[in-house]
Amino acid sequence: MCGIIGYIGEREKKEFLINGLKELEYRGYDSAGIATFKNGHISSYRALGKLENLIHKTDLFSSDGFGLGIGHTRWATHGKPTEINAHPHCGEFSHIIHNGIIENHREIKKNLLSKGVKFLSQTDSEVIVHQFEKFISEGMDAKKAFKNTIEIVQGAYAILLITKDEPDTIFFAKSRVPLMLGTNRKKEKFMSSSDAPLMGHATEVVYLEDGEYGWITKDEISIFADEQLVTPKFITLKKNKIHAQKNGFRFFMEKEIYEQSNVISETFMGRVSNDSIELEELNNIDFNNIDSIKICACGTSYHAGLVATYLFERLSKIKCQVEIASEFRYKEPLLDKKTLFLSISQSGETADTLEALKIAKIAGLTSLAICNVDNSSIVRLSDVTLLTRAGIERGVASTKAFATQVATLWLLALYIGKNRKTISKEKMRTEIEALLRIPSVLVVKNSTHEKIKRLSKRYLHGHGFFFIGRDIFFPLALEGALKLKEISYLHAEGYPAGEMKHGPIALVDSELFTIALMPQTILYDKIKNNVEELSARDATILAISPKKLNLADDFIKTSNQSHPMSEFFEMMIIMQILALEIAVRLGNDIDMPRNLAKSVTVE
Ligand code: F6R
Repeated sequence: MCGIIGYIGEREKKEFLINGLKELEYRGYDSAGIATFKNGHISSYRALGKLENLIHKTDLFSSDGFGLGIGHTRWATHGKPTEINAHPHCGEFSHIIHNGIIENHREIKKNLLSKGVKFLSQTDSEVIVHQFEKFISEGMDAKKAFKNTIEIVQGAYAILLITKDEPDTIFFAKSRVPLMLGTNRKKEKFMSSSDAPLMGHATEVVYLEDGEYGWITKDEISIFADEQLVTPKFITLKKNKIHAQKNGFRFFMEKEIYEQSNVISETFMGRVSNDSIELEELNNIDFNNIDSIKICACGTSYHAGLVATYLFERLSKIKCQVEIASEFRYKEPLLDKKTLFLSISQSGETADTLEALKIAKIAGLTSLAICNVDNSSIVRLSDVTLLTRAGIERGVASTKAFATQVATLWLLALYIGKNRKTISKEKMRTEIEALLRIPSVLVVKNSTHEKIKRLSKRYLHGHGFFFIGRDIFFPLALEGALKLKEISYLHAEGYPAGEMKHGPIALVDSELFTIALMPQTILYDKIKNNVEELSARDATILAISPKKLNLADDFIKTSNQSHPMSEFFEMMIIMQILALEIAVRLGNDIDMPRNLAKSVTVE
């Protein structure tokens, strides 16, 4: 996810901005840039890749003395990670940096193009600076032009803008993406997307609310909402940097669990309208010419793939198989050119998935990647990519990467269904309604977390866990078991609930913990029977369900959802938190569990 920094004052701006961007590196990025403004002149530098490249490029540049500056690290979502797409984006006399996604950028761009405006990048962000300058050319002053621009853009944004029209000012706006302002005794002014870069510099900060915008000069901070001036609520800035990077959470994994509601909104952004799914990346694939899908992935990504097999067959009415990439590689697979090859990978660097993709390419299959990292090896090799937009994931145990993979696959299933005309208008509408509810389903309730924390103390021993579920809740059970294994080091297995009686039931006794995923929207009575079979043999049962189950030893009540995917995402979070709290009680390293690596680039 992108990072933003801004400054007004006497310091060496280049140094301050680049040091600030270093503090935001933990958010992940693929390019970076700065622009400074002094004595009527804007100097702008951008570089692809690590900050070192930007430092190298700005080696001979200095910007001391009073002035202002803005800096940005970019995590590509619209347009490839290239220098041209890096921020700041410039018009003729203004520069902007932007985090988030401008959902209506196409309409704005079309309108500006028709008026002769020239665009340089493939980003959605560039429309902001051109729209702003367009308003100025129509006679507005900078403040009015900025306000009008903010009224036009829709979506998520944290924006900083500088312009020669108001040389002492940084304009800002915030909606659904974090942005904070700060100051200190020397009256320096700071802007940032998180606390870390401002620590040791700003003493007081204000966290902007959605819909707020305004401007800052060395003497004043003016914040508006609904055209009214807002009195900023400054608070003292805390001092612990690592704590700040974790946004106050104990672990990166915990922060990433809580972030899921926001990042999934980014996954959907610009791709979902009231009655349709638009995936412009796929415009060149003719889905009527494809008669099956082969998915290859590893670990958590494989589980997301397994969920997708249900969605593709059910919604898109297309045959679908998923294979573990390391198995696929050596099985001498028979491949058909009418099969779409779908690789799923958070990192885009997993060796087994990459090799599987190479096999599919050699066989002449069209390849589509579902990936979180643009320009990764898998993305570069694939014909097309859908980015999951989760932002960097620091916890080794994957959480938000999984959630956004499943969400992207759901979008894809609906998109293919639309193209193959296998989904009625009515069905599409209900699916989209359900989809748009997911961000709220993913908000973690304090009471739920507290309950899981308390329950976790009963699950620290025993001779193993069985996570059981049916349908899409079977891959979810696999994922729940994997999360627990990874960070608690306890033995756990995911199993299809109906399959327990075909062998594993022999293991059942009171020291075998069963985590039963019991949604009300899919096969509730069937799974209830399976749970009864286990209970009859004295298994200890933790039921996760909206319906109370008397024979369960423990019970986590979920909300009354009407769509299986809502139940899916709610139960996913519960299992992530359960794994986390058990591992915390066992005193394990949550973010860096033993023996595991974030990116597995070896066979
Ligand atoms: C589990 C986990 C791993 C990865 C697997 C594939 O929490 O993170 O199982 O899912 O190593 O990695 P990617 O998705 O990067 O291909």
